[in-house]
Amino acid sequence: MLQLIQYPHPTLRFASKPLARVDDQLRGMIDLMFQIMYEHRGVGLAANQVNLPLRLFVANPSGEKDSGQELVFLNPVIQKATGTIEAEEGCLSLPGLNGVVKRNKAVQVNAYSMDGKEINLKVEGFLARIIQHEVDHLDGVLFIDRMFDQGEILAEDLAGFEARFAKLRQEGQISTDEILAEQRQVWLDKYCG
Ligand code: NI
Repeated sequence: MLQLIQYPHPTLRFASKPLARVDDQLRGMIDLMFQIMYEHRGVGLAANQVNLPLRLFVANPSGEKDSGQELVFLNPVIQKATGTIEAEEGCLSLPGLNGVVKRNKAVQVNAYSMDGKEINLKVEGFLARIIQHEVDHLDGVLFIDRMFDQGEILAEDLAGFEARFAKLRQEGQISTDEILAEQRQVWLDKYCG
C-alpha cells in the first residue's frame, strides 16, 4: 500500500531512476497515486512522494477526479524551458506551506505514456508549472529550495515538519535510512535494472 510521505523523509531527496519496464503492479501503483493525489487535493504527484524511487509522475491540473485530464509522465525530461514567471506554490509533502517560486513560463517535455508511446509536449501556464515542480521532485529538489522568501517563517515551518518526522521515527512508524535504502533498491532492481 502506498502512502504519501512528508518532508524531511529521505526518499524526497533521492534522485529517481528511469524506468526500464512497466507491468500491472506499476499500473496499479499509478492508479493509487492518482487516488492519493485527489484525496489530498493535489494537482500533481511524483513517485518519490509515495516512497517509490522511480522516474514518473501523475498530474491533473483540474485537481478533480471527474474533470480535466489525467496525465502520466514516465521518464520525463525537460528539453527546453523559456521565459520566467513567479507564482505561489504548495506541495503535498509539505502540507500547509506556500511560497512564491520563480519558474519558466513554457517548457518542452519529453516522456513516455503508459502504453510506451513517446510524448513531446510544449506547454505553458499552470501545467508547465506542475511539470517543473514534479520533475524537480524526481531530481530530489523541493519547492522550498527555490522559494523566494526563505526567512524565519520558513525555518519555523520546516522545524515543525522535522520534529514531526523525528517523532514518527522514534515511534517506529518510519524506517531507518538503511532500511529505506534497501526498500528503494528492491524497486530499482524490479523496474530500472
Ligand atoms: Ni510537491
